[in-house]
Amino acid sequence: MAASSRFSLAAARCSLFLTAALVLLALSHGAHGHGAGLSSSFYDGSCPGMRDIVRRVIQDARVADARIPASLIRLHFHDCFVNGCDGSLLLDDDLQAGIMTEKKVLANNRSARGFDVVDDIKRALENACPGIVSCADILALAAEISVELAGGPSWSVQLGRRDGTSANIESANNLPSPFDPLETLQEKFRNLGLDDTDLVALQGAHTFGRTQCQFTQRNCTAGQRAGALLNLDGVTPDVFDNKYYGNLLQGRAQLPSDQVMLSDPVAAATTAPIVRRFSGSQKDFFKNFAASMVKMGNISPLTGRDGEIRKNCRRVNKKPY
Ligand code: HEM
Repeated sequence: MAASSRFSLAAARCSLFLTAALVLLALSHGAHGHGAGLSSSFYDGSCPGMRDIVRRVIQDARVADARIPASLIRLHFHDCFVNGCDGSLLLDDDLQAGIMTEKKVLANNRSARGFDVVDDIKRALENACPGIVSCADILALAAEISVELAGGPSWSVQLGRRDGTSANIESANNLPSPFDPLETLQEKFRNLGLDDTDLVALQGAHTFGRTQCQFTQRNCTAGQRAGALLNLDGVTPDVFDNKYYGNLLQGRAQLPSDQVMLSDPVAAATTAPIVRRFSGSQKDFFKNFAASMVKMGNISPLTGRDGEIRKNCRRVNKKPY
């Protein structure tokens, strides 16, 4: 073989190897922050009773407060949209550690709830398998169990997140607002890898739970005081179903951010057809909701050696409860 052809063969092999290495690097980099390392069997060996424990605590809490499942899924959403799903929302103020809690931003203050139930879950898990289950994973699993208990779909929850050690008030201040126009909502979702179908499906969680009247389209005009609670879904308030989309079609969604998915000028070409689809088929809605929840749960999780497993989800001075 001539020296030049031997050289070109070696060069080709070398470039093939380089390409393969680059592809692998790109894949592993791309996967980081998109659910890399998560798995539905993560705790099978280390905390096999996990699911039953979380389910039992939520079921007990629900007896006294029918709204708890709705409140818990909202915590997972507000956690994942700020710094990824790392349990940062659960952290209390801790000046020594430089932590300023996300609980006091507009979207959470006197609004996000269910923190005591998360504490109860964590306490029960620490009794059964100390130092194993992260607070971020508790939120992800609690969200799925809550939907299922309310009659919604179930899905295979990806687990293995670790907990963040810092809060991010600036990002929490940028959580979607009920008064955001559609394009702003779309942008806030798109920035986290969530498309229009995810936006329409995930807002379908407003099929249960409550809202304070000052956030609604009518804005307490029925004479209530600010803070008065209204059902997000007036038809089946505590059931997870597709009635929410029917409300939208009748102009009866509670939040302006719900109704814009149909009424905004850009809705016709983007979200409105999806609203109609989900209103026509609960099966289609459930399938997409489950898929979008998995996508949301994959937003920048901490895995491997990052983060920690908190003993106390509020982490005040790192002491257990
Ligand atoms: C598109 C952006 C969204 C906006 C602007 C929004 C806004 C709101 C507002 C203003 C409330 C009432 C809070 C209060 O009165 O204190 C609320 C409640 C709720 N949100 Fe959303 N939300 C959005 C997306 C989501 C998503 C993605 C989920 C879950 C996947 C979700 C689940 C819930 C639930 C279940 C409640 C009722 C909570 C309870 O009763 O405690 N929301 N949302």
